[in-house]
Amino acid sequence: MTPATPSTERARRASATIPRVLAVLVVLGAAALGAVSVPSCANPVQDQAIAALGGELSGVPPGPFHRPGQPCVVCHSENGTTKLQMVLGGTVFADLTSFKGVTDVDVVFTDSIGQTMTTTTNCVGNFYISSNSWSPKFPLAVEVRFPVFNMDGTEQMQSDGNGGMKLVQKVKAMGSVISRDGSCADCHKLTGRAPRTDASGTIIGYESTGWIYCNAVGDTNYFPDNSLTCPGKPPPFTGGTSSTTGASSSSSTSATSSSASSTSSTGAGG
Ligand code: HEC
Ligand code: HEC
Repeated sequence: MTPATPSTERARRASATIPRVLAVLVVLGAAALGAVSVPSCANPVQDQAIAALGGELSGVPPGPFHRPGQPCVVCHSENGTTKLQMVLGGTVFADLTSFKGVTDVDVVFTDSIGQTMTTTTNCVGNFYISSNSWSPKFPLAVEVRFPVFNMDGTEQMQSDGNGGMKLVQKVKAMGSVISRDGSCADCHKLTGRAPRTDASGTIIGYESTGWIYCNAVGDTNYFPDNSLTCPGKPPPFTGGTSSTTGASSSSSTSATSSSASSTSSTGAGG
């Protein structure tokens, strides 16, 4: 994972997010139990949706690093097949042209009564919030706050105004709200922004909003390559599109100082 950065920012984040230790315990637990999957209660639509997602990537057992880019909540819900139930789950990738996962991205939710909850991505870019740890009131606003790396692999830091340093984070916010769908990938699909055309070849729309990514075209943010140390693997890249048709993307990215106060997690538990 990323080199430990001695900063109050890290400490703050460690306390404000779902402890990663828990995720590790969860993996061990899954391994110990042989990852039994419980058959779902009769819901043919759900069953079909789950079947359509296919099997696991070889070498990646079910756990926090599996199925990046997939709609987590389809399986991890009351009607799904798993013990772990999620209210929200998804994956953050580096850019529009790869499925490189980005670690240490804060995914910050604000619900309709002003409660906020922050969770952090792991090395394949996955994050989730279990149903036990938060019961948000939909609709939700969401934004991703990602670290910024120099070419030499160091993370950009800035003054915290108190004589210390903190990480620079860039923020990308979703302009619309999540009205009830906890799986980002139901809208943010791995098929990317490939144009959909009618019989005459005229573009009539786009296949999806595309996957969630940090770097817009032309951004220089050198996310480290986690592939040797990460227990998960990115989904096979099917040559999605890097088309710039997601036009608004670069303009909605703004550097901020990640004012620490706004990320405090007031959700119950966590
Ligand atoms: C196709 C169904 C499916 C999808 C999609 C899916 N999972 Fe899972 N996941 C499972 C199954 C089955 C298990 C086995 C353990 C269980 O029953 O919870 C599991 C286990 C886990 C566990 C360990 C839970 C435990 O109690 O041991 C985590 C964490 C997890 N998944 C995270 C995710 C995330 C994050 C996503 C989305 C990026 C995701 N999963 C997508 C089916 C799925
Ligand atoms: C109901 C469909 C839907 C769901 C579910 C959804 N999104 Fe979005 N998202 C969109 C659409 C459409 C856009 C582009 C327009 C906008 O910003 O509203 C978008 C934009 C974004 C952007 C800004 C992208 C940019 O280029 O500036 C981020 C970040 C984002 N979503 C994150 C998430 C996360 C994280 C989740 C899951 C927790 C999620 N979204 C769930 C539809 C969805």
